[in-house]
Amino acid sequence: MRSELQPRKKLKAEVQIWLENVERVNVEVQDLDDRIGESSALTRGFHTEDVSKSIKEVEELITQQGRFHGGLVVDNPQWIGQVLSTTNISGEAVKACVEEIWQCLMDDGVKKIGVWGMGGVGKTSIMKFINNQLLKERGKFDTVIWITVSNETSIAKLQKDVASKIGVEFSGDEDETTRAGMLFENLSQKGRFVMILDDLWAKVSLERIGIPELSNGGKLVLTTRKDDVCRQMGCREIKVKPLMEEEAWKLFLEKAGCDNLNIQGVEPIARSIAKRCAGLPLGIITLASCMKGIYDISEWRNALKELRLRKKSVNGFEDEVFEQLQFSYDRLKNPKLQDCFLSCALYPEDWKIEERSLIQLWIAEGLVEEMDSMRAEFDNGRAIMNRLISNCLLEVFTEEEHARTVKMHDLLRDMALRIAKSRFFVKAGTMLEKAPDVQEWSMNLEKVSLMRNRRLYIPLEMSPP
Ligand SMILES: Nc1ncnc2c1ncn2[C@@H]1O[C@H](COP(=O)(O)OP(=O)(O)OP(=O)(O)O)[C@@H](O)[C@H]1O
Ligand SMILES: [Mg+2]
Repeated sequence: MRSELQPRKKLKAEVQIWLENVERVNVEVQDLDDRIGESSALTRGFHTEDVSKSIKEVEELITQQGRFHGGLVVDNPQWIGQVLSTTNISGEAVKACVEEIWQCLMDDGVKKIGVWGMGGVGKTSIMKFINNQLLKERGKFDTVIWITVSNETSIAKLQKDVASKIGVEFSGDEDETTRAGMLFENLSQKGRFVMILDDLWAKVSLERIGIPELSNGGKLVLTTRKDDVCRQMGCREIKVKPLMEEEAWKLFLEKAGCDNLNIQGVEPIARSIAKRCAGLPLGIITLASCMKGIYDISEWRNALKELRLRKKSVNGFEDEVFEQLQFSYDRLKNPKLQDCFLSCALYPEDWKIEERSLIQLWIAEGLVEEMDSMRAEFDNGRAIMNRLISNCLLEVFTEEEHARTVKMHDLLRDMALRIAKSRFFVKAGTMLEKAPDVQEWSMNLEKVSLMRNRRLYIPLEMSPP
């Protein structure tokens, strides 16, 4: 039964009933056995009838077992992958990209697809859309596996993530090769699966992870900011390009709210601001939400001037993006708010940050104004959080009545780490095994984050020089 009960399969209803009956009869027989054990030679005969009844029931169950023709399990339509939250994706080039990826997925000749483009251009959004589309049209693939890879990942972490998605359980004692074998065995039986590795930064060996050669109809799609990763992984490359100027402007309008843009003279300035994002959706959305609700034309003029002033000699496009994104950081204007934002980068990449613990950290750091009660301080912290969220510097990840988690976009995290370069030392969630050398720490270092390094032993006497 265990070998048949793979993910996306469930026991047939009659098998489930049979199992429940076996369980019940088992308890009854044990109970009868106890009663017989406790009775004397004289009274033992009183149980004859119960014993024959139990024997008959067991025999019936054994005969029933032989009648499960055509296997013990049926397809479980509830297990096919995870629907992911998406935004509306705009842009003709982006739509063409979606189309191209879809065609490659439907083409049996293409096994590996590499979706690449600069940070914030929409790779993850496109793949989330495709993921959801694959779940809607179930004909071609049985299983869709989404893995968020982060900057400093390892084979062990990838194996763990894949295992949890396909329902393989590691006991913790296995070595890398055994884990790969377990995944390989499970995935080989799946045949037609799509594995999406989102945000890959370096080549990984599919063999070492345990992903079978994709000859059975399985497909791999990866997203990366680096073209050479696609090449090294032997992928069909699909580039995601930034939005065209007019499309970028439409997105800016949508996100900044149109009413303030109707003020005379604002539109040309707003267009110039939008243009500076070079069609990068992340930049456009971030800038637009900074300008949302601003009705004063001089503020618009000032914003454009500030943006222009920062433009230095361009060291690669990525630098320019940071400059664009840093604009929203600068516009927070309040150093304490800015430090609140920077402190989110102390958590590992892609980390679901619990709002409550983050606010507690801010309070402890003195970043929240001192008030006469804890409650008031907490509320103040929450107001800061809302401000960061509305400026697109943090994203709400999950929202329940009393517990919210937030995430920092990894491009923004990179930017925060760049800004806090000499003040922060962050090696969070990096599988670090050796304590860092304190001699290398700079004199103005303020914060060190070594969280989520499970094998790391931090000596008690470790302190800055
Ligand atoms: N075509 C689009 N239309 C509207 N919004 C978009 C589009 N593409 C991306 N976005 C938005 O831009 C932001 C960044 O997109 P996304 O995370 O997909 O970028 P990415 O290419 O995966 O970046 P990274 O390299 O950092 O992983 C998201 O908030 C997303 O909703
Ligand atoms: Mg991404």
